[in-house]
This record gives sequence, structure tokens and C-alpha cells, in this order.
Amino acid sequence: MSEITVSGVQGLPEIVPGANLAELIAAAVPDLADGDILVVTSKIISKAEGRVISADRDDAIAAETVRVVARRGATTIAQTRHGLVLAAAGVDRSNTAPGTVVLLPEDPDGSARRLRKSIGDLTGANIGVLITDTMGRPWRNGQTDVAIGAAGVLPLRDHRGHADSFGNALEVTVAAVADEIAAAAELVKGKTDQVPVAVVRGLPELVGASAAGPAGRWPGTASPRSPTLAAGTDSGGDGPGAAALIRPAAEDMFRLGAADVLGERRTVRDFTDEPVDQAAVRRAIAAALTAPAPHHSQPWRFAVVETAAARTRLLDDMLAAWVADLRGDGFNEEQIARRTRRGEPLRRAPLIIVPCLLADAAHTYPDERRNAAERAMFLVAMGAGVQNLLVALAVEGLGSCWVSSTLFCGPVASAALDLPEGWGPMGAVGVGHAAVPPPPRPDRDPASFLVVR
Ligand SMILES: Cc1cc2nc3c(=O)[nH]c(=O)nc-3n(C[C@H](O)[C@H](O)[C@H](O)COP(=O)(O)O)c2cc1C
Repeated sequence: MSEITVSGVQGLPEIVPGANLAELIAAAVPDLADGDILVVTSKIISKAEGRVISADRDDAIAAETVRVVARRGATTIAQTRHGLVLAAAGVDRSNTAPGTVVLLPEDPDGSARRLRKSIGDLTGANIGVLITDTMGRPWRNGQTDVAIGAAGVLPLRDHRGHADSFGNALEVTVAAVADEIAAAAELVKGKTDQVPVAVVRGLPELVGASAAGPAGRWPGTASPRSPTLAAGTDSGGDGPGAAALIRPAAEDMFRLGAADVLGERRTVRDFTDEPVDQAAVRRAIAAALTAPAPHHSQPWRFAVVETAAARTRLLDDMLAAWVADLRGDGFNEEQIARRTRRGEPLRRAPLIIVPCLLADAAHTYPDERRNAAERAMFLVAMGAGVQNLLVALAVEGLGSCWVSSTLFCGPVASAALDLPEGWGPMGAVGVGHAAVPPPPRPDRDPASFLVVR
């Protein structure tokens, strides 16, 4: 029978800046042994490392935040520079003097490595160290402790390629063992008992080679299919740290929080050759169809230009119309060649979508004033639909550029695309994977854009 024990460490003093945690813990746990895992609440690491500051909580949260993921009322869920996503960017006002806040350790994996080494030096025991913090989980009520720093503990145990008891291959199971240990330790540490450290025994297979030993590698656990789970090349067997628990943005299906969905859309003018997923385009068009529109109408239509022949015809006919306009403006052939040579984003985009307005639900009035208002209503509804389309494309990881070209040669574009009767092209949207990341968005103060009456 396998047994795991989790014991709270009693008798630690209130931790002050500069406290020698290794000495305090080694004294409080005199029987520390090889294979033990020490689970330490990040707050005492922060206190020992002087991460308690006198500051306004909101200012501290802003300083610790690299990305606001969601905001509701007084609650901010933010990503820190460590990559962690948690409430208040990990800034904590509890268990600290009034007027002060506790910030997360600067480098929790580094803190774990230093503590592991110091305790190893003091006791000779080859232990693992986890540093934990408390987090809420999306979709789940309540908080649990998770590992934000790790040294000498395998953070993820990869079961992929192994078989279950029925012989089925386990395809996707990678157990976040460091988080599981952190949560178990929280059961004995508690919030009110002032027990900031626990010792977990019975999982020596998760503990790396000692600092003095050979290059760390956990036999039978690291998988060749997941090199990030390998112990790493450090000579101390500290392993990849809790950083390995942070899902890379490109693999994260829930990367965008409510607060940053809209900001994700940026005009992209240069694309890679990577083809566009047509299913993603259909989903984005479905999102466009949820925009508001007058008279309970659905005025949005989309020409998805998928074939090379349709694309060439559209772009060439529009170019000819543009050249004719420039000639009409009095430009000479050399000036025209220079202007049109600049090209445009549509030429570089792997896919073109032409949003069209079908205003057949518009009312007709006897006077031009109301007819113009009616047209404006449908145009703004079209803008709302296209914005939905562009935001939904961005959420799918696709860049877009809404350009005006078809608006300036509507009949030519309609003919080139053989559009159904009544469909009026409203520009064109180039779609593809961005070749370069967009520049930072300029800060716009809403106060400069509004009046209050
Ligand atoms: C109706 C409309 C027409 C546009 N036409 C063009 C265009 O012809 N060429 C272009 O490069 N960008 C065009 N844009 C994109 C704007 O230049 C772009 O939105 C602006 O630079 C702000 O950048 P952002 O979209 O990344 O916030 C157009 C945007 C709209 C809404």
C-alpha cells in the first residue's frame, strides 16, 4: 500500500524581512529526510525577501500587472510578469500590517532553488521545495493552492503513451502533480492556523537528484514527447520549476479574458502564407450575424473569396478601376504606376472576405432627410457586423485588415464577384496569420472622447 503523509510545520515565528527561512525551517523540522517535499506559502517567502511594501493596493496591482484579463466591480484578474493569472495580480493585504501589501516573490522558482540548496547545505537532506499561492479557478467555485515556484520537484507527470488498467492508451493525461501537492498541503496549512509550511512524504519519485548529485532526471517520468517535462540540464536536479505549469499562450484556448477580447483586434497588413481555416471563418461570420440592426433586419452578407480565379478577377478589376480614377484625377502614367505599385494588404492576404450590405428592409420616405437617415442606420449596422467579424477572427488567432477599396468601385466589385441582386460591397477584409506582431496600441483617454451632459 502506498502512503503519502502531509504534516503542518508548527512553531515558526512571524517572518520578517531578511529572515533566514532555511535555518528556521530546518530547526522546526529536525527529521527532514531525502525525498521529502517542503511546501512553503509564498507569503513567508515574500516577507523574508522584503516584498512587503507600503503602497495603495490599486497602485500595487497596476504595477504588478502585465495584462488585465477580466474585471468586474472591485475584482481584477490579471496576469503577472511571471505569467500567472490570478486575482489582484497576487497582491495581498491579508496577514500584513495596515497600509502595507504583500507582493508575490520576484522569481518564485529562483526562491525555491535557493531554499532547497540552503536546506540541503544545512541538513544534508535531498528535498524538493514548492512555493504556493492561493488561486481561484475559472468555472469552479472556491480557491485552491497551486505551485508558483518549484525546485527539485517534478511539476508535471506525463502519463501519455502509458496504458490504463483496461489497456487503453492514455493520450492526453499530464498530471499537474506540483499543484496537487500544493492543494494537499493547504489542507494542513490552512489560512488561520498560521502554519505556512508543510512537509509531504511518500513521493520520492517526484524529487530530483541532489544538488551534489548527477544531472537530474526523473526515471520513468519525463517523456520524450514533452521535453519541457524533462528535468532540465542543471547540475542540481532542480528541474524546470513551476514555470513549466504555465500554459504557453499559443496552446491556451482561453487566453483572452473578457477585458482583452476587443483589444485583440488590430489591423494586420502583412500576412504569412499559412492558409486560413475555413471553419474559423464560418464561426466569425456567425459572430457577425449577432450584431444589432434596425427593424429586426439581418442586413449583413459576405462574399468569401476562396478561389484563385475569383480573387485575381476581383483584384485586377479593382486595380483597373483605380487606375481609371487616377487618370480622371489628372495623374500621369508614371505617377499612377508609382501609386498603384505600393499595392495593398488585400494582395498579401491569403483570404479575402467582402462584407456586403443588403438594405432591402430599409423603409422609404417621401423626403430625402429621412431616406438619408435610413441609409445611415443600415450603414452603422453594417459597421457593427464587420467589427464583430474582425473581433471573432482575432479570437480565432486570425489577423484582418478592413480596407475601403470595394466601396470606391462598388459596381466593378459586384460584377467581378457576380454578387446577388442588392448586395452592396462595404470594403473588403484581408484575412490571414499576421507576419509580425502589431505595434502597441496607442493609449486613448476616454475623457477626450466624451461629453457629459
Ligand atoms: C471603413 C474602413 C476603411 C479602411 N480602409 C483602409 C485601407 O484602405 N487601407 C488600410 O491600410 N487600412 C484601412 N483601414 C484600417 C485603419 O487604417 C485602421 O483601423 C487604423 O489604422 C487603426 O488601427 P487598428 O485597426 O489596428 O486599431 C480602414 C478601416 C475602416 C474602418
